[in-house]
Amino acid sequence: MEDRRAFLRFLSASPLYAGLPLAGAALSQTPDALVDKAGDALDVFDLEKVAHRNIPPAHWGYLMTGVDAEETLRANHEAYGRYQLRTRRLVDVSKLDMGIDLFGTRYASPIFLCPVGGQRSFQAEGELAVARAAKGRNTLQVLSTVSSTGVEDVIKAREAPIWYQLYTSSDLDVAMKLVARAERAGCSAVAVTVDLPAGRNTETAMRLARTDTRQCTACHAATGSQFFTRPMYQGIDGSRLSNTSPALTWDFIRRLRDHTKMKVLVKGLETGEDAALAVKYGADGVMVSNHGGRATETGRATLECLPEVVAAVRGRVPVLVDGGVRRGTDALKALALGATAVGIGRPYIWGLGAFGQPGVERTLDLLNNELRLAMAGVGARSVREITPAALIRKA
Ligand SMILES: Cc1cc2nc3c(=O)[nH]c(=O)nc-3n(C[C@H](O)[C@H](O)[C@H](O)COP(=O)(O)O)c2cc1C
Repeated sequence: MEDRRAFLRFLSASPLYAGLPLAGAALSQTPDALVDKAGDALDVFDLEKVAHRNIPPAHWGYLMTGVDAEETLRANHEAYGRYQLRTRRLVDVSKLDMGIDLFGTRYASPIFLCPVGGQRSFQAEGELAVARAAKGRNTLQVLSTVSSTGVEDVIKAREAPIWYQLYTSSDLDVAMKLVARAERAGCSAVAVTVDLPAGRNTETAMRLARTDTRQCTACHAATGSQFFTRPMYQGIDGSRLSNTSPALTWDFIRRLRDHTKMKVLVKGLETGEDAALAVKYGADGVMVSNHGGRATETGRATLECLPEVVAAVRGRVPVLVDGGVRRGTDALKALALGATAVGIGRPYIWGLGAFGQPGVERTLDLLNNELRLAMAGVGARSVREITPAALIRKA
């Protein structure tokens, strides 16, 4: 045993393994074993396995579900496999700068944390643990309207401005009240999600909920998971609200733009036409997203949508993208196709569900390290230097 440990120590000290996260730890695990601390996870899938063990079935279903037959969910990640990297050698990559500027704020990495609702259903500290991890890694955090912690407390834990994701409802004045509260709390941007005009069919969530033997009404209102009982709706009578807004149109974006000093982004766009309209109606940024395959079952990956959005926007505003990013190389591919920043949803919730704050930190460290290695491999010394020349599309 001692010999084996000495060998592992030797291995992890070897320059060949430099930069790899705890090379020795991999060998100390049998292939299927669950890691027992965040630092032992070698990729985000190690965290996924532990989160799966920890999170009750109904909540796991909510996390992992797509819609209908989940073709869009699968397409999101598979699209990354259609591109390969073109390496460049003998570039001095000894000083890599992975930082980005977004609306005048500097972040350590182009990888950011997407809004994910109800994070205390994955781990007791929920959004606060995520905020502390985001602070530790100087990462952009976007808070959901249906968070399980109010925006004021999350900003306090983050100790810096975050972005607020807005779900409108059937009453747009309520939406404006939420925006005003987020602004008062210190958010620097609001991202209005527009990809769920009429609800959705989340079969996996419903199937797994049936297998959960816990008493849901102990935490959820008896009639189901009612959005207006969440902290952001405090002081608002939501009992007659519907959580979809099928009548929403572009005028709302202009109204929002006039209503707030925060930056306004539109989240959930997939076409060049809509991206051009977003800019026309005053948006300061667009987010290419299909809600992680949880909105319209288009079958189309966000990575496939990105080039037409980038072309339509013509550099006038930042273009963010999310969906299916599971490796640093995925992030690099999206950046090469013109994204300003790249969002992750499920991977950091795996970290949260597995180990709380250290798990979210580990998710960021793993993906950022993979991105760093990919940047060095394609000879990009900064995010700006990641260009389409770094990619080749598979024949
Ligand atoms: C469990 C879960 C909850 C989500 N909640 C929200 C939300 O409240 N608001 C929102 O705009 N998007 C929400 N999303 C979508 C994410 O912001 C993001 O678009 C998506 O997760 C990215 O895909 P990925 O999970 O494959 O990384 C949610 C996604 C998941 C998985």
